[in-house]
Amino acid sequence: MIPADLKAALERRAADALNPREAAVDVLKSLQTHYGWLTDQAMDEAACITGLSPLQLEELATFYDMLYRRPVGRHVIHACDSISCWNMGGSSLMRSLEMLLGVAAGETTPDGLFTLLPCSCLGNCGAAPAMMISNRPYGPVTAETAAALLKEIRGSGPFPS
Ligand code: FES
Repeated sequence: MIPADLKAALERRAADALNPREAAVDVLKSLQTHYGWLTDQAMDEAACITGLSPLQLEELATFYDMLYRRPVGRHVIHACDSISCWNMGGSSLMRSLEMLLGVAAGETTPDGLFTLLPCSCLGNCGAAPAMMISNRPYGPVTAETAAALLKEIRGSGPFPS
C-alpha cells in the first residue's frame, strides 16, 4: 500500500489531467518507483487513482520499455537496439554486456544488482551505441567502457536511481 501523501499527490495529478490517460504513465512510473516494479497491487492502485480499467493500464505497462511488470534488479540497463545503435555496433555491445553480467538480455543477475533489457531508441542516437543505467544515459559505449562502468557501479555502493 502506498503512503497517504503519495496517494494524494497521484490523485491530484490524475484530477488535473484533461483525460485520465494523460496521467496514467506518470502514475505508473511513480508507483514503480515506490514498489521497484509494477506489482499487481500497484496496478490495482493505478486503476483506482486514474479510473482506467485494469486492461487499459496493462496495455500501457506492457507497451513501454521503461515500465516493468516483473521484478527487476537494483540497476536496470537499457541497451538500445534501434537502427542507429545497431549500425554502430549495438548488437556487439549487447553481447559484451551479456558476457560481463553473465546473463542473457531480459534477465537479472543472481545477486539482483542488474537487469539487462534491450530497448527502443533512447533519443541518444548521436552517441550510438547508447545505453542507460538507472536512468543515466551513456554513449558511445564500447565493451571496455561498459566493463569500467559496471565495475564502478559494483564497487560504489548506493547509486541513485
Ligand atoms: S537508435 Fe539508439 S539511441 Fe537512437
